[in-house]
Amino acid sequence: MNILIVSWAAITSIPFLSTVFRYTSPPKREGPVTEAVTTTGEVPPNTGKTVSVGNKPVLLITTPEGERRAFLANCTHLGCVVRYREEENDIYCACHHSVFDIEGENISGPAPRPLPQLPIEIENDHIVVTVS
Ligand code: FES
Repeated sequence: MNILIVSWAAITSIPFLSTVFRYTSPPKREGPVTEAVTTTGEVPPNTGKTVSVGNKPVLLITTPEGERRAFLANCTHLGCVVRYREEENDIYCACHHSVFDIEGENISGPAPRPLPQLPIEIENDHIVVTVS
């Protein structure tokens, strides 16, 4: 009978011990993710496109002058996904109306910081972005 009770206690404690282990062990750190996200033709001058890199939203912009930029697309206020506005040539967050310029600087609204800019490269007509 004692063996049965000890076995039952050991088996039922596994979920509890697993939960304790998950909360007490340090989280795994993920390294940078580099991906070819789209082609250059998909983001012509004065347009923006949102893509996903390593499960993070990334806003690609080609300025009216043809310069390419990439930003983490989470607004620095509360994390909504921002978008490029062609008519205003800026980056806009519809949640609480923050506006960023095309350098990612916060210029109006409640966003407290600029959008993090990401490294971008063009390889064989593909836009390659790295997210850390
Ligand atoms: S989340 Fe973007 S302005 Fe609030």
